[in-house]
Amino acid sequence: MFDALTRQPDDPLLALIGLYRKDERPGKVDLGVGVYRDETGHTPIFRAVKAAEKRLLETQDSKSYVGPEGDLVFIDHLWTLVGGDTIDRSHIAGVQTPGGSGALRLAADLIHQMGGKRIWIGLPSWPNHASIFKTAGLEPAGYPFFDVPTQTVLFDTMITALQSAAAGDAVLLHASCHNPTGGVITQAQWMELAAVIAERGLLPLVDLAYQGFGRGLDEDVAGLRHLIGVVPEALVAVSCSKSFGLYRERAGAIFAVTASSSSADTVRSNLAGLARTSYSMPPDHGAAIVRMILSDAELKRDWQAELETMRLRITNIRRALAEGLRDRWQALGAVASQEGMFSLLPLAEADVMRLRNEHGIYMPGSGRINIAGLKTAEVDGVIANFKNL
Ligand code: LMR
Repeated sequence: MFDALTRQPDDPLLALIGLYRKDERPGKVDLGVGVYRDETGHTPIFRAVKAAEKRLLETQDSKSYVGPEGDLVFIDHLWTLVGGDTIDRSHIAGVQTPGGSGALRLAADLIHQMGGKRIWIGLPSWPNHASIFKTAGLEPAGYPFFDVPTQTVLFDTMITALQSAAAGDAVLLHASCHNPTGGVITQAQWMELAAVIAERGLLPLVDLAYQGFGRGLDEDVAGLRHLIGVVPEALVAVSCSKSFGLYRERAGAIFAVTASSSSADTVRSNLAGLARTSYSMPPDHGAAIVRMILSDAELKRDWQAELETMRLRITNIRRALAEGLRDRWQALGAVASQEGMFSLLPLAEADVMRLRNEHGIYMPGSGRINIAGLKTAEVDGVIANFKNL
């Protein structure tokens, strides 16, 4: 029966991890998968995570099941970080998920379960978005979001596309730190966007995977908070992978913002039911660490300080790159004001392969670079190689 299957291509982003590892050139540079690295090229474990892990090891007295909704204290604290006090807490249904991808998949399953068919996605987007939605039975509808040669967010195109969407359609938004472009939606634009979404009766699904890596913890959710204050219903998929450096622990959550506490209760039961038939219960370890950090003032302060250091390192690298690249591509001056880990360079796939083969610089074929993967000492060399293309 397995004959019915055909070989599937490896995920191009994840395949880069293996290719980079195999490369033995000493000066190789990894601008591939979205993982933060420090000035030594290492992905550190946050100090607060280490401290919480130690505490957890000493105090955890059972490995018994937690339940399909996961750790309710984690859910509550994480929502405070994301939504603040914008929404009456009884209107929020939150369920812990295996990472942000698990949250997106549960959201897609929920939309499908309630009869939703189409989801609008600004292109380019994280390639896995469309795949997750399709696998859950939704139909992704793309519209152009970003113009690579001019490095501009096509906000008017986005608004026009959403004005043509049918009531009940879902719309995927990136809360901030857009993956793969770093393109910024201003607060005034969020306000316009929220008004169109509310007026058209669309359901926003907001992907929040990089809180704290753009302009700051609160700044990175300011647009999202405005949106959920305006629309009656929304879904928010949260990843703790980057913000807490918990990548492999798979900690995340899906939150539904609903119009009443009884609606929240119904949505929560549906999310829990979908989780039960998919993976039954989420892994505990990462969420337990986040819970401990967010419920302890000292650990929280230290986590915030370390996250801020990472954010500033990325901002500095952005400035240096933009400065160096703008004489060859004037539009790339925008890299300095884009936010988060990624920018999308105007490179052809052949350029990407040349950089990889001739100089050991790794990035996906799209020309996306993970700025958080670059050391200050590597910036000039990378700029020189880009300019020589
Ligand atoms: C990325 O875009 O590189 C990250 O979100 C990691 C992933 O799972 O693709």
